[in-house]
Amino acid sequence: MRTKLHDNIDWVGAIDWNVRDFHSYNTDRGATYNSYLIRDNENAVIDPVKGSFFKRWIENIRQFADPASIKYLICNHAELDHSSSLPMAVEAFPGVQIVATRKCRDTVVNYFGGADWNWRIVKTGDEISLGKRTLRFIETPMVHWPDSMFTYVPGDKLLFSMDAFGQHIATSARFDDEVDPAIVMEEAKTYYANIVISYSNFVRKTMEAAAGLDIAMIAPSHGVIWRSNVPTILAAYKDWMVNKNKKKVVIFFDSMWESTTRAAEAILDGATQPGVETNLVHVRHSNLTGIATEFMDAAAFAFGSSTLNGLLMPAAAAALVYMEGMRVPNKAAFAFGSYGWAGKGGPDQVEEYLKRGKYELLRPALKFPYRPTADILDEARKAGEALAEKALEA
Ligand code: FEO
Repeated sequence: MRTKLHDNIDWVGAIDWNVRDFHSYNTDRGATYNSYLIRDNENAVIDPVKGSFFKRWIENIRQFADPASIKYLICNHAELDHSSSLPMAVEAFPGVQIVATRKCRDTVVNYFGGADWNWRIVKTGDEISLGKRTLRFIETPMVHWPDSMFTYVPGDKLLFSMDAFGQHIATSARFDDEVDPAIVMEEAKTYYANIVISYSNFVRKTMEAAAGLDIAMIAPSHGVIWRSNVPTILAAYKDWMVNKNKKKVVIFFDSMWESTTRAAEAILDGATQPGVETNLVHVRHSNLTGIATEFMDAAAFAFGSSTLNGLLMPAAAAALVYMEGMRVPNKAAFAFGSYGWAGKGGPDQVEEYLKRGKYELLRPALKFPYRPTADILDEARKAGEALAEKALEA
């Protein structure tokens, strides 16, 4: 496997071929936990790996250096997919300094103890000279945890970006130009929608802080390393961090006996207009990861649910909660759905979620008893047309 980023800088991470659930993120293509070894007068490792891959990580380091020679272990982020190997690392790297922000140190100590480990707390602008190379640190709070930071190597124009610019792909390829670019960008977008998007305001601040950096290569902690498509991923982040929408309408729904389905299809019919991308997503037959990615850049959407036990459908509730957490209110929307003898339920509750999400409500909930009549389906088509008109403004 090729591991070399530059002379004396190698990937020494782990490939998780089989992971399919990453705290509810469906990782259909697996994942990697990237780690990088810099050999110099003093050796440094950038980013630890998930604890269950500790032995593989040490074997990978050993191909290039004695683990006991590691002077610095840079911990850019405290989340457990990286930090859970730290308790073992401090044993394997005697005398190592763990380099981290203060918040990273505090978070790791909350998880593992380790207050007496040999910490070196850094902040933006601090540098460590390894000999020929220098590491410079840039705090990136809330991208995507309070503790997060980047590590930059000025001489190589190399940015170790932690989770930012990451993608969940298990592959023996290490670089963006060794994998189908459509897959890399699809996974980078999915990653943004599911991990980063809630913190887009902080991404903007981070991008401003990084604007002065000359970047030739971005080495994230997940997925492939950007070396041929750095401008492409930076441009994509510039769109994503301002929640830029496409001229796109999505109809999300769940249905018990196809009544809400019929309304959803009529809305789709109305929304299908020249220049508008449309999609129909049955939320119970999809997953939250795909729903978030589909939702991320839709300018307008409708969300429907039948009524079950006087409430909205459980899969609809899960999707709405997940969407609310993404904090992307710059979308037009309305609720729809059927009810039975209860006289209310699913569509009203969907509308409550839409209000909480602060979306622009185009109309009151389109709700109907049992089966949608021809008039209701007509109304649904017109409501779909209104979604399309909104989408065309994007
Ligand atoms: Fe890859 Fe936020 O951890």
